[in-house]
Amino acid sequence: AFELVLARSGRVVNVPAGCSATEALGAAGVVVPTSCEQGVCGTCLMGVVSGLPDHRDMYLSPEEQQRNDQFLPCCSRALTQRLVVDC
Ligand code: FES
Repeated sequence: AFELVLARSGRVVNVPAGCSATEALGAAGVVVPTSCEQGVCGTCLMGVVSGLPDHRDMYLSPEEQQRNDQFLPCCSRALTQRLVVDC
């Protein structure tokens, strides 16, 4: 599990194991547009302010993933306990 911190509102959303970040956000009333939900299309792309994403998508290039300034919340998770996102 990890926590998403929403930079614009300061809200903290817990993402339990077995639950995607987009599911957790949706349950908290934060709707993220999605399409493939498999890390392929890029629809759900979200900016990362701080923390390290655990990239599990096939959309971002390795270089883009290494910048750690954006992630795909439909499939990717976090390596840090908290991930602050531009949301
Ligand atoms: Fe397609 Fe997330 S919904 S990459």
